[in-house]
Amino acid sequence: MKDFNFYTPTRVVFGRDSEAQVAALVKQYGGSRVLVHYGGSSARRSGLLDKMLGLLADAGIYTVQLGGVVPNPELSMVRRGIDLCRSEKVDFILAVGGGSVIDSAKAIAYGVPYEGDVWDLWDGKAVPVACLPVAAVLTIPAAGSEMSSSCVITNDEAGMLKRGVNSDLCRCKFAIMNPERTFTLPAYQTAAGATDIMMHTMERYFCAHQDMMLTDAISEALLRTVKDCAVAVLKRPDDYRLRAQIMWAGSLAHNDLTECGGEKDFVTHKLEHELSAMFGVTHGAGLAALWGSWARYVMPRHVNRFVQFAVNVMGVACDWADPEGTALRGIEAVEAFFRTIGMPTSIPELMGRPVTEAEIAEMVDKCSRGGRLSFGSIEKIDTTAMAAIYHLANV
Ligand code: NZQ
Ligand code: ZN
Repeated sequence: MKDFNFYTPTRVVFGRDSEAQVAALVKQYGGSRVLVHYGGSSARRSGLLDKMLGLLADAGIYTVQLGGVVPNPELSMVRRGIDLCRSEKVDFILAVGGGSVIDSAKAIAYGVPYEGDVWDLWDGKAVPVACLPVAAVLTIPAAGSEMSSSCVITNDEAGMLKRGVNSDLCRCKFAIMNPERTFTLPAYQTAAGATDIMMHTMERYFCAHQDMMLTDAISEALLRTVKDCAVAVLKRPDDYRLRAQIMWAGSLAHNDLTECGGEKDFVTHKLEHELSAMFGVTHGAGLAALWGSWARYVMPRHVNRFVQFAVNVMGVACDWADPEGTALRGIEAVEAFFRTIGMPTSIPELMGRPVTEAEIAEMVDKCSRGGRLSFGSIEKIDTTAMAAIYHLANV
């Protein structure tokens, strides 16, 4: 069990009508000139955006708006937001949307006080030292950005490089979560979100430190809950109880609770970020397309952990005479679950075609920063292993 330092400062305001508290919360955290940041059209269509703007205006809070954040949010939008915040003297950023909007808001918040090129923070040329306060009104449970220290941005000016930067500075001051707001999610986004939530948990569960019983139990319960609720909610999209479990799980999966005593593996995430950067696929679907191949690649050297997962999470009967067979049935059960909720389990299923050898080479090169980096916790993955996993997922 690894020593840990658990810090999760975000105030969570959860439930029906939780949005009504937005103005009081913004004031509590010092906001007086607010950038309201949002995505394509869903927040406007649902009336949520107008409701937020109205509540802030009624409380005498000055707002400026910037919409149009795309999934896998882009640096060019971040630059527009930084310019707008500077000219309007914005002192608080409210993200109304999902992970993409929240990450774009966090990036703008880093950029406003930074004097150099904001991409320096993702490029490793600088570390964040200041950040405007950010908060979220969450509309899709998936990325967990509403409680995480991460901010993932795609550089659309330099060959679609997708990079994350981690710092407690950008953690949301508060997150408003009304599960009713997720009733309008398309089935594909619901399923991709559930997949991402499960992967944030699994990519901590499969790590080098495996003797934290309480963290294991929390992770296993979270995974069973999301798995069961995801299947059910696709049949009953307006079921508040189901939506609520998934929404809360999304935050707990990525606020580091399921990392206490362990550490991140996140190999599937790193490999996926190259797919969503180059091909614009939905992050959660990309994870589903890759995980089974990663799992098959590493499992033979970590059979006991995969058996525990198969039995405690996927409900596989343990065959003591054949632990590797039990572990494999657990991986197959995850893939069967992904198919049940409409997620792909290979790159051709994800994209409608396999990737080419040149594309695999490019993804490996970008992922490993030109061959310099290997990563992973349960097992270190180098460029050879990265290519092997992409190849396994490509059939
Ligand atoms: O743009 P609009 O019209 O709002 O539509 C969005 C978008 O098309 C739609 N949507 C959101 N809420 C909705 C809705 N549609 C109907 N009803 C609603 N209530 O859903 C689509 C996806 O939204 P997006 O914000 O992209 O989803 P998600 O939360 O999955 O975020 C994905 C991004 O987060 C990054 C991913 O890489 C990706 O860029 N991640 C961020 C992390 C973090 N900061 O901690 C960790 C994650 O591992 C992940 O990498
Ligand atoms: Zn993720």
